Amino acid sequence: MKEWSKELSYRELKSPDEIRSLHDKIKESVFRQTYHIQPTTGLLNDPNGFIFQNGIYHLFYQWCPWGAVHGLKYWYHTTSKDLIHWKNEGLALKPDTLYDNRGVYSGTALSDGDKINLYYTGNHRDEDWQRTSYTCLATLNPNGTIVKKEKPLFGPAEGFTEHQRDPKIIHNKEDGKYYIILGAQDENARGCAILYSSDYPDRDFKFVNKILVPGFEEFGNMWECPSLEQIDGKDVLIFCPQNIILPKRSYAQHHNGYIIGSMDFEEAVFIPETEFIELDSGFDHYAAQLAANTDRNVIIGWMGNADCTYPVTDEEDWAGCMTLPRELHIKDNKLIQTPVKEIEALRGEELPADIKELPLAAELLITSDGNDFYLSLFKNRHSRGLMISYNSSTKKLGVDRSGLKTRINTNWGESRTRVLDEPLTKLRIFIDHSSIEIFVNDGEAVFSGRIFPTEEEKQFVVSENATCRIFTINPSVTDDFII
Ligand code: FRU
Repeated sequence: MKEWSKELSYRELKSPDEIRSLHDKIKESVFRQTYHIQPTTGLLNDPNGFIFQNGIYHLFYQWCPWGAVHGLKYWYHTTSKDLIHWKNEGLALKPDTLYDNRGVYSGTALSDGDKINLYYTGNHRDEDWQRTSYTCLATLNPNGTIVKKEKPLFGPAEGFTEHQRDPKIIHNKEDGKYYIILGAQDENARGCAILYSSDYPDRDFKFVNKILVPGFEEFGNMWECPSLEQIDGKDVLIFCPQNIILPKRSYAQHHNGYIIGSMDFEEAVFIPETEFIELDSGFDHYAAQLAANTDRNVIIGWMGNADCTYPVTDEEDWAGCMTLPRELHIKDNKLIQTPVKEIEALRGEELPADIKELPLAAELLITSDGNDFYLSLFKNRHSRGLMISYNSSTKKLGVDRSGLKTRINTNWGESRTRVLDEPLTKLRIFIDHSSIEIFVNDGEAVFSGRIFPTEEEKQFVVSENATCRIFTINPSVTDDFII
């Protein structure tokens, strides 16, 4: 594995020419995706500032240009008219002030007339590498320029450690106030979310309190990327608790999930109605964010996770991609997730069901009779490939990637399971060169993961009680070098 010194990974990008040849190399990789957002070079992590404005979806992401390393972070900008065809727009926020000298960290967006306000964490570090987090604001003007507000909105709150970040901006229609929620760690190393409020979107934010979430006082040692959303009339708290082993999540350390309940902003209390439920039951999924300024509940997540590595592409000096955009609804007090309907426009030809080799950009539509079921993808004579199996007596669906030749993040466990509410009758699977997303039934669960099948791993086999339709998927992201 490549060793990254602080000097190398925290270098400032002075000119696109410094990474042009890196991009030329990377774009030849067989693992480059064709319909998922991915970094030009280097590492992509959280989606940021996801918003719909004037017919355009803007999505920014955390980006470190140099390679597969969490070094100096920028916001990279992409746009789309249909959530499916994404255009690279180039660098948006750079770590170029005192307050964000070691990274422009994650955040969210709010529409402000014809402008878009971008709220982000300025990750400041001093010479001794001591961190101070600032909550900062920048404005994206209609002509595409971005102007940072000179001073941060506020600095760190008392009573919490250096881990305070990832502002989620909310304009609460009920009381007219603006709220910012941050992820934080209290002085007893417990993860939590903290609340600020103001009468204005761009000034005067005051600390309100730590948000009380009864039953979740000891739930991981840091909450990253917290958000409060209203979905189908319910309040949904979405966040990423870190360093906690959850019974249903094998050895995974960091998670992205939600609790449905009700939020009282004035009291800073969120009353849960459900347990913490993972947003995605697969392997690689984190920091998901909903699009602001639209009635559709569209969410995009990072198909990766902190402390995970992806050796094949890490060696190639790039890492990470986004999930497909998914539409959220609530059914029986649980979120259901379906890929946005626009994705259907990407379907190419339907292939005969008896093809011997899987295409690398494909959609599989599988129907089964609710009995025991299995499907093995990217197998060959010697290996089982990625196994999907369903036990009808326990209603447990499992996905196991230990049968692939290239094994990754084995210390987090190589299989994931979920007990379904309904018998398994439908799977909708999206494959894109180095990723797989498995939508279950009508969206009651989804499993996402990165996979790196070798040249020899191409076959698939599905149990006899199922039928399978296979479509090729046309490309919808271009690998342009735009910085
Ligand atoms: C989550 C996270 C955020 C932070 C960003 C830095 O993956 O750690 O908390 O703002 O990534 O890239």
